[in-house]
Amino acid sequence: MSHSNSRDPAANQLLDFAKKVEHADKPSATTNSGNPIGYNDASLTVGKKGPILLQDWVLIDKLSHFSRERIPERVVHAKGAGAFGYFEVTHDITQYTAAKVFSKLGKKTPVAVRFSQVAGEMGSADTVRDVRGFAWKFYTEDGIWDLVGNNTPIFFIRDAILFPSFIHILKRNPVTHLRDWDMFWDMMSLRPETTHQLLIFFSDRGIPDSYRHMHGYGSNTFALVNEYGSFYYCKFHYKSDQGIGTMDPDKATKTAGEDPDYLTRDLYNAIASGDYPSWTFSIQIMTPEQAASSPYDPFDVTKVWLHAEYPLIPVGKIVLNRNPKNYFAEVEQLAFDPAHLIPGIEPSPDRMLQGRLFNYGDAHRYRLGVNSLQLPVNRPFKLHNFDRDGFATINSQGGAPNYHPNSFGGAESDTRAKGLAPVLPVEGKASRYDNGDEDNFTQARSLYKDVLTSDQRGRLVDNIAMSLKQASEFLQERAIKNFSKVDVEFGKSIKAKIHARGQHAAAEI
Ligand code: HEM
Repeated sequence: MSHSNSRDPAANQLLDFAKKVEHADKPSATTNSGNPIGYNDASLTVGKKGPILLQDWVLIDKLSHFSRERIPERVVHAKGAGAFGYFEVTHDITQYTAAKVFSKLGKKTPVAVRFSQVAGEMGSADTVRDVRGFAWKFYTEDGIWDLVGNNTPIFFIRDAILFPSFIHILKRNPVTHLRDWDMFWDMMSLRPETTHQLLIFFSDRGIPDSYRHMHGYGSNTFALVNEYGSFYYCKFHYKSDQGIGTMDPDKATKTAGEDPDYLTRDLYNAIASGDYPSWTFSIQIMTPEQAASSPYDPFDVTKVWLHAEYPLIPVGKIVLNRNPKNYFAEVEQLAFDPAHLIPGIEPSPDRMLQGRLFNYGDAHRYRLGVNSLQLPVNRPFKLHNFDRDGFATINSQGGAPNYHPNSFGGAESDTRAKGLAPVLPVEGKASRYDNGDEDNFTQARSLYKDVLTSDQRGRLVDNIAMSLKQASEFLQERAIKNFSKVDVEFGKSIKAKIHARGQHAAAEI
């Protein structure tokens, strides 16, 4: 069921407000300092046709706030929608992790979610082809845990150093200010590790018909530590209880014109109507011994862990049951960071994750300021440290000392967290090891041949050809060579499709 009718809960937001305050006294309008405003329809001028006085504080207050309303949008994932709900433990995984969020059956933890599109700007249409961001914030008793995933189990690249360039090719050409298919296909074909994710990107799943109808994945590899200090590598999965829904590209193009906020509206209306979406949360577990002998790199985010070898272990359920009260306060200012981890959950050597551990907090300090984690939507239940001051400080920490060590009852190191930090087995010589040619095609081949149906393969070829035909001929050729390494017939079909559309693809396969 879609939630996008013309007089739906989203359309009625103001009517609902009016109904709520129908019998209450209307409040007096005020300046930002709470001083009552006597008149809100005219500036203070000298005579009817004269200039405005500098002492018109009401006007100055209004205009100066207005010109500061916008903040930098997220450098990626700028367009999105958010909601709130809870996570409930349904299965015991304490043998793998001591994280308190999983400590007992039935335990509930409040969560926030943000769904997003990767490449488009804040005003972008919801129904374009793209990966979708799918990030959870768990407000646990041990502080914030952010699981900042996507609706795909894998990613395009496997080293963080390539990420800024990778995003540049998805965004605008710096000269023309247009999306540029030469940029896109150039880098994609020069880095064949993108092939596996390109197959998902151009598959039916590249255009979801609702945020409620998407699975989500933590994608990166993490580590779990149990109360005895044993550690396991782990991947997180959250499967939609609504099932998967995708949108036909023609309908998506039409919808982008008619209702560019289609997915945002659908989510808001579903929750406002009491049709609460939910996801089943699971993990995959790999022991350090299995990781050491794995034929593929378990820390390579362009690869999945085979479910036959590493089955999904059910953990819990996540339900969304509240819309944001104010989009800017609760969604635009929502700040997810893969470095926000809780005792019992640790990073792995996954190079992409390692880069992400730095980059998100840095983005928040730029986008929201140094005290973004004191904002109501981001703040943990408890905070005891030695950081103070900076723009927009709210939390005084009750007058506790701001230095360590101290003799005045300040915060102490947490012995439980200390016990749960695993001793990581690392070795090797520091160097820049390019891992670009590490088996880029085996898993892509199995997705193409064993998972997709023949109809799905046909649509995949159509979607790739539609995009690739817009790139220069030598790029078409290079990309087709990569796709042919997935499957020779696959490459041939793409080439044939491009020719059928009157474009030239010169690749010899
Ligand atoms: C080295 C690789 C990556 C880097 C450097 C990176 C960097 C960033 C940055 C700077 C932001 C904006 C944060 C903000 O302003 O709040 C962001 C957002 C996001 N990233 Fe990444 N990213 C990387 C890879 C990934 C991967 C692999 C995933 C998924 C598994 C992912 C999922 C997301 C999501 C969902 C958001 C939006 C979060 C929100 O809704 O606020 N990113 N990323």
